[in-house]
Amino acid sequence: MTSLTSLTGKTALVTGASRGIGRATAIALAKAGARVLVHASKASQAADDVVETIRAAGGQADKVAADLRDANGPHELAKRVRSLTGERLDILVANAGISKAASIEDTTVEDFDNLFAVNVRAPFFLVQQLLPVLGDGSSVVLLSSLAARASVNNLSAYAATKGAVDTLVRHFASALGERGIRVNAIAPGVVETDMSNFAKTDAGRDFTLGMQALKRVAQPNDIAGAVVFLASDDARWVTGDTLRVDGGSKL
Ligand SMILES: NC(=O)c1ccc[n+]([C@@H]2O[C@H](COP(=O)([O-])OP(=O)(O)OC[C@H]3O[C@@H](n4cnc5c(N)ncnc54)[C@H](OP(=O)(O)O)[C@@H]3O)[C@@H](O)[C@H]2O)c1
Repeated sequence: MTSLTSLTGKTALVTGASRGIGRATAIALAKAGARVLVHASKASQAADDVVETIRAAGGQADKVAADLRDANGPHELAKRVRSLTGERLDILVANAGISKAASIEDTTVEDFDNLFAVNVRAPFFLVQQLLPVLGDGSSVVLLSSLAARASVNNLSAYAATKGAVDTLVRHFASALGERGIRVNAIAPGVVETDMSNFAKTDAGRDFTLGMQALKRVAQPNDIAGAVVFLASDDARWVTGDTLRVDGGSKL
C-alpha cells in the first residue's frame, strides 16, 4: 500500500468504520501505513468486509465492537482497544454518529437524548478513557458538520450535537496540548452515505448542489483524505480547529 503521507508504525481507532465516512477513513489510514482498529456498533459483515479489504491490500486491521449509545459503551470500547493495542494509540477518529431530521415540534426527548449520547457523550468519554494510551504526537479527530454553523433541513437537535463537538475540540486541545496531543474536527457538508441518502434523489441532489460552490455530491473519500492529513505529522501545528471539508457549502 502506498500513500504520500506516511503513518507507518502508527495505530488508529476509527469509530463507526463499518460504513460511510468511517469506512473510507479506515481504508485511507491503512493505505497511509497505519494499523487500523475498525469499530462498529456490533459484529457485522460490513465491519468484517472493511477489515478484509484492508488486509487484502497488504494493510493491518482488526475489528472491535461496542454500542456507543450505551452509557458504558465508550468505557467498554476503550478496554477492548487497550487490550488489542498494548499501551499506545496514535490516532483516534471519533466518527460514529447518528442523525435525525425532525422539526422542532416533532423532536422527541428520546431522539434528543440518543443524538447527544452517540454524538457527544460517546466521544467525550472515549477520549477520557483512552487518555492513558494517547501520548506525545497523538492526533484526535472528531466529526462535526456543516449543520453546526448553518441551518440545513430540519436538523436542530443534531446540529446542536455538532456545535458541542466544535466546543469540545477547543477545550480538549487546550487541556491536552501540554501532553503533545492534538485535537481537531472535520466538518463535512452533505456526503452521500446512509445518513444522507436523500442526496441520492434528484431533489436532494439539487438541494445539495444549490448550497455548494463545487457542483457535485461529496463521496466518503472526499472526507477521508482530510482526516488522514489531520492525523499525520503534516498537521503537527494544527490543533483546536474545525476544518470545513464541504465543497464550499453555504459560503
Ligand atoms: N453523511 C453526511 O452528510 C455527514 C455530514 C456531516 C457530518 N457527518 C458526520 O460524519 C460521521 C459519519 O457519518 P456517515 O454519514 O458516514 O454515517 P453512516 O454512513 O450512517 O455510518 C454511521 C456509522 O456510525 C456507527 N454507529 C451509529 N450508531 C452507533 C452506535 N450506537 N454505536 C456505535 N456505532 C454507531 C455505525 O455503525 P453500525 O454499522 O454498526 O451501525 C456506522 O459505522 C457522523 O458523525 C456524522 O454525523 C456526516
